[in-house]
Amino acid sequence: MDRYAHIVGWGKYLPREVLTNEALAELVDTSHEWIVARTGIYQRRIAGRRESTYTMALRAAREALQVANIDPRDLDLIIVGTATPDYLFPATACLVQDALGATRAGAFDLEAGCTSFLYALAVASRMIMAGANERVLVIGAETLSRIVDWKDRNTCVLFGDGAGAFVLQASDAPGGVLSAMLGADGSGGPLLMIPAGGSRQPASPETVRRGLHYVRMDGRAVFRFASRVMSEAASEAIGAARLTADQIDLFIPHQANLRIIRSAARRLNIPMERVFVNVQKYGNTSAAAIPIAFCEAIEEERLKPGDHVVLVSFGAGLTWAAAVVKWQIPIPVPPPPRHLRFRRWLRYGWAILRSRFRHLRRRFDAWWVRITQGDVA
Ligand code: ACO
Repeated sequence: MDRYAHIVGWGKYLPREVLTNEALAELVDTSHEWIVARTGIYQRRIAGRRESTYTMALRAAREALQVANIDPRDLDLIIVGTATPDYLFPATACLVQDALGATRAGAFDLEAGCTSFLYALAVASRMIMAGANERVLVIGAETLSRIVDWKDRNTCVLFGDGAGAFVLQASDAPGGVLSAMLGADGSGGPLLMIPAGGSRQPASPETVRRGLHYVRMDGRAVFRFASRVMSEAASEAIGAARLTADQIDLFIPHQANLRIIRSAARRLNIPMERVFVNVQKYGNTSAAAIPIAFCEAIEEERLKPGDHVVLVSFGAGLTWAAAVVKWQIPIPVPPPPRHLRFRRWLRYGWAILRSRFRHLRRRFDAWWVRITQGDVA
C-alpha cells in the first residue's frame, strides 16, 4: 500500500526585538528607501541575548506538536535545517530532542544554506514514504544576526532571525508532500560563504581581525542565480507532481528579496495574488523563511483542503529545492483542550528534569569509576 507524508502540525517563533530600516540606517550607510526599493524589506527580528537557534527551534517545535496533538515521545526523527547551529557539534536537533523529551527520536542537523528547510522536508517525507519513519519533526531555524557583519551594508540589511517547524505524519490517504526536487552547484560556493571557522581556516585572532567569520556575498551574482533557479525548480516540482502552474493555489517562495519573488512568479506565470510574501516584516530568515511563511499563510486562512501549494527556495552552496504539497486540513484548527495543553506543559517540565538528572548521573558515574578503579592515567 502507498504511504504519504502529511503536514499535521506547524509552528513558528519570532524574536520580539524589531530592527527597522530607519534604525539600521543609524548603524551603516544606507536608507529605508534604498532597502525597500532593492529588497522589499521594512524590518527584521533580532534574537535576544538569551535566545539562540536552539531556543527558537524549540518554541516553534512545541507549537507544531501542539497543533498536531502529538506526544514528543511518539516522534521518531527530528531534523533541524540551519546554517547557524548553536555549536558545530552537538547538533541543534539533539538539543531540541532532549528539551522535548523525544526519547524515541533520532536527531540530526542538515545544512544547505537557506535551502536547508526544504532539503530537510524532502528527506523527512521520503523517510516516511519509504516506511522508515512514522512521525518526523522538521525545523528551520536561524540566528543570522550573529553571523552578519553589522558594518557591511551589502549583507546586514538583508537578514533576520526566527524559526518554523512542521510535524509530518505517515498516512494511507493520498496527499501531503506530492513531490520534492533538490539541486546544487558547488562551483558557486564562493558567491555566498563564511570563509573561516571551519576546518579549512579554523578561527584564530587573525581570522577574527579580518572578519572572516562573517557572511561574504556577491549579491548581484546570487540575485541572477536566484531569479533563474526559483522558477526552474518550481516548474520541475510541479511537473513531478503531475500538475501545471495554473493548478497551483498558493506559491510560497523563499523570502529573500521581493524582486526575486516577483521575477520567479512572472516566469512561472503565477499572479502575485497567489504568491505569499512576508519578507517586508522579517527579511531573509534563511532556513526559517518557508515554514514561517507557511504558518502565516495558515493564520491568514489562505489555504483550504484540496489546495496545491508550491514551496521553493535557493541558498548558499549553491543549492535550490522545491516541493509541492496537497493541503488537507480545514482551517482554523481548534486549539487542543486545556487539560491536554497542561499535560504537555508537565511533560516539557519533566523532560528538563530528566535531562538534568541524566547529566548528574553521568558526573556521578565518572566520580564513582574514579574512586573505585583509581585514575587510569
Ligand atoms: N544601502 C545603500 N546602498 C547599498 C547598500 C545598502 N544597504 N548595499 C549596497 N549598496 C550599493 C552598492 O554599493 C552599489 O553601489 P555602487 O553602484 O556605487 O557600487 C549599489 O548600491 C547597487 O548595488 P547592487 O549590488 O547592484 O544592488 P542590487 O540591486 O543588486 O541589490 C542586493 C543588492 C539587495 C544584495 C541584491 O543583489 C540581492 O538581493 N541579492 C541576492 C541576495 C540574497 O538573496 N542572498 C541570500 C541568499 S540565501 C542564503 O543561503 C543565506
